Amino acid sequence: MATNGDDEVVVSNKQVILKSFVNGVPKQSDMYLNTTGSISLRVEQGSNTVIIKNLYLSCDPYMRHRMTLGDDPEFAAYPLGSPIEGFGVGKVVESGYPELKKGDLVWGVTGWEEYTLIKNPQTLFKINDTDVPLSYYTGILGMPGVTTWAGFYEICAPKKGEYVYISAASGAVGQLVGQFAKLFGCYVVGSAGSEEKVELLKKKFGFDDAFNYKEEHDFDAALKRRFPQGIDIYFEHVGGKMLDAVLPNMRTFGRIAACGMISQYNLEHPEGVYNMTNVVTKRIRIQGLLAFDYFPQYAKFLEVVLPSVREGKVVYVEDVAEGLENAPAALVGLFSGRNVGKQVVVVARE
Ligand SMILES: NC(=O)c1ccc[n+]([C@@H]2O[C@H](COP(=O)([O-])OP(=O)(O)OC[C@H]3O[C@@H](n4cnc5c(N)ncnc54)[C@H](OP(=O)(O)O)[C@@H]3O)[C@@H](O)[C@H]2O)c1
Repeated sequence: MATNGDDEVVVSNKQVILKSFVNGVPKQSDMYLNTTGSISLRVEQGSNTVIIKNLYLSCDPYMRHRMTLGDDPEFAAYPLGSPIEGFGVGKVVESGYPELKKGDLVWGVTGWEEYTLIKNPQTLFKINDTDVPLSYYTGILGMPGVTTWAGFYEICAPKKGEYVYISAASGAVGQLVGQFAKLFGCYVVGSAGSEEKVELLKKKFGFDDAFNYKEEHDFDAALKRRFPQGIDIYFEHVGGKMLDAVLPNMRTFGRIAACGMISQYNLEHPEGVYNMTNVVTKRIRIQGLLAFDYFPQYAKFLEVVLPSVREGKVVYVEDVAEGLENAPAALVGLFSGRNVGKQVVVVARE
């Protein structure tokens, strides 16, 4: 830490930087840790900005879109040479924004670095409830939680007793969808990529059944065995061959929440989906969702979900990587299924 003549405090600021745009599967070496950066912990007088100390960073599959130059305005490419961005939890160090003060805890989009100057502090959510783990605001109480809540209750429009299938079911979103669906009174089956994850789904999250998709060479047969009566709700996380196998197994008037398609994110040419006629004949509703659309309803979401967390009705498994230096490995691990539960990076605990 250093001060200049005006008592401006300057500290070193490690950062994770995107080295070059990514083709195919992202690698750790697509990013590097810059250890020579520094930042002033003073906001300019009269500015509306906030400086936060980053505590927990969230690894999310959508970040892959931002590692490639594309034309999707929702996912602008990260500028090369600057720290990458993502959701995180931080503590306000200095604020020119009247609604936040030094010491406040917040979650929202921040930089992958120790300290970040937030130029649009109105996008941050102030954290008022600290009797739960702070890291939960990267997961169950943050963006993935809002995704689950909106996707399951609004888009899937569940009815008690319905049959629910979730792919990538042990991750940040999937583990919650399954638990919400069980609490609602549905029959729930999930798929995941290892025996360890399958056990987690059945024993920890209370799914009725689960299977390791990597051991199934015929997804259609695997689904027919678990859903002889068909699927009412599919919470889609992987796309491609799995989506194609699900369509003929859907029941009439089934709903599909198209939340993500991670099996397609690293492909140069996305796979085709061939069984679309089922959408017509079975009157299936497929609807995409983006968490951001539901952020204005965050307070309502917390009212519903926070009590379930406090009462232990919903549990949350995190996979915690220690230190910014381990953040690139944690992020790319999402695409090989290395994470067990929500992938979080701890930058600092306070
Ligand atoms: N729409 C939204 O607003 C929104 C918000 C959050 C997340 N999402 C989407 O929801 C999905 C899950 O996100 P999450 O944050 O919960 O991630 P996550 O499940 O915690 O981590 C990603 C998991 O995806 C699985 N996976 C990776 N490559 C795969 C492949 N080729 N085929 C099948 N599975 C693969 C891996 O689990 P296995 O070991 O099981 O393979 C991996 O652990 C993603 O598609 C993501 O883009 C969307």
